[in-house]
Amino acid sequence: ADPVGEGTRRPAEQPLHGVGDGGPAAGQAAGSRLLRVESAAFYVASRPAHGEGELTVHHPYDGRAVGRTTLATTDQVEAAVAAAAGVAAEAAALPAHARAAALDHVSRRLAERADEVALLITAEGGKPLKWARAEVGRAISTFRWAAEEARRFSGELQRLDTDPTATGRIALVRRAPKGPVLGITPFNFPLNLVAHKVAPAVAVGAPIVVKPAPATPLSALLLGELLAETDLPEGMFSVLPLPNERAAELVADPRLPVVSFTGSGPVGAAIRRAVPDKHVTLELGGNAAAVICEDWNTDEDLTYAAHRIATFANYQAGQSCIAVQRVYVHEWLYDAFLPRLVAAVQELRTGDPSDELTDVGPLVSEEAARRVEAWVDEAVTAGATIEVGGRREGATYPPTVLTGVPADARVSAEEVFGPVLVVARVEHDRAAFAAVNDSAYGLQAGVFTHRLDVAFAAHRALEVGGVVVGDVPSYRADQMPYGGVKGSGVGREGLRSAMEDYTDPRVMVLTGVTL
Ligand code: SIN
Repeated sequence: ADPVGEGTRRPAEQPLHGVGDGGPAAGQAAGSRLLRVESAAFYVASRPAHGEGELTVHHPYDGRAVGRTTLATTDQVEAAVAAAAGVAAEAAALPAHARAAALDHVSRRLAERADEVALLITAEGGKPLKWARAEVGRAISTFRWAAEEARRFSGELQRLDTDPTATGRIALVRRAPKGPVLGITPFNFPLNLVAHKVAPAVAVGAPIVVKPAPATPLSALLLGELLAETDLPEGMFSVLPLPNERAAELVADPRLPVVSFTGSGPVGAAIRRAVPDKHVTLELGGNAAAVICEDWNTDEDLTYAAHRIATFANYQAGQSCIAVQRVYVHEWLYDAFLPRLVAAVQELRTGDPSDELTDVGPLVSEEAARRVEAWVDEAVTAGATIEVGGRREGATYPPTVLTGVPADARVSAEEVFGPVLVVARVEHDRAAFAAVNDSAYGLQAGVFTHRLDVAFAAHRALEVGGVVVGDVPSYRADQMPYGGVKGSGVGREGLRSAMEDYTDPRVMVLTGVTL
């Protein structure tokens, strides 16, 4: 029996997020539409500004300069934070229609400029154009969802007359912003992970100061441009290009009581230690695993899983916290699965990310690719076999499959953040779940099974923030609660979850009410 059914199957290339990735326009190369952003403004208290020095953004594929901006001065940082604190009360009182209108505006404008924004993401981060288009589609949806949630975010009415002494009493539970938010964002989704900090802040009426990743600030600056077109009160947002070393001054600033950080584990841990009294949300890394369960055993099953895993181990050159990194295969299926996986990986096109047909582009820098290379070499020295891949060229590391990897090798135990997949044979499904849990991280897991009892067993057993049944762990819908346990962080993003995270419940008890 196949309870999942033919009809529910998606082709391996189908985008993950419920939005179109635009799809490759056959043979079309976007190289001729190369983008260059001269002297991009950043945003201080909702107004465009230029600062000091120069921050040049380089295309990871060929190193050419694709954009320039400047760094915020100390005075500009102070102005941004002071404005955020100064406008907080006004922002919290903004009517839902005003917050929703601003969010809808950004969503609409992103859709109008989608092609340009995708080129920008590709230019600054080296993300293949088809995945850059997918990211723009997601950001459009993130802002639209936030607008919808802003309209719905009403609180709750609670009866209190369940006790005779409280007859005539009710409680109105509303949520009040904790205060201005500091959003620190990573390079791997330079638009949508900024959207995931900004959109819920606007939705609840909290001012936000964003520090984008120095390698990829341009998409965040473009978002600033769109926010500046709205009627949000002055000071509601700032986007400040700053070197990472200057983030500490913002993290420590008591006028920014909420810190929402997406990035590496060590930096997240340092933030937590630095401000134990602040509300901190940390979206950190992972070494996401997929499990091929005993019942996922037909030729079609295995081919499907191989294609999905090959695609989502290597999309964005593996630079997603939920890219597949480890695969645990039931021992009866391992010998049939591995050649299918290797073949699917070999089908991927690696190369210029501006080419509409490229599947796998460069990593964010040559330094990052060298680190991945060193980790793979280390695993091979420890006994691993390279089934495919393994030769770096500049910032590009080819999709690589490893077997026979010791569990403590960094390619398995740490977050590789590169196009490297570790495949292991396991005795049974329970052993696979134990292997998934044998990790310092716990973000998402994918479980290929048709059986409902196995799906629930996995959901019970796996120490992660989300289990995806019948697909890779890389699935994320932007409205879904998203985040991890253990070393993968604290708190959840996803519009509704982030809105709750940015606010505190505030109860009003009414007396003398006849219900
Ligand atoms: C991440 O890398 O944590 C974000 C993954 C996603 O939004 O798809």
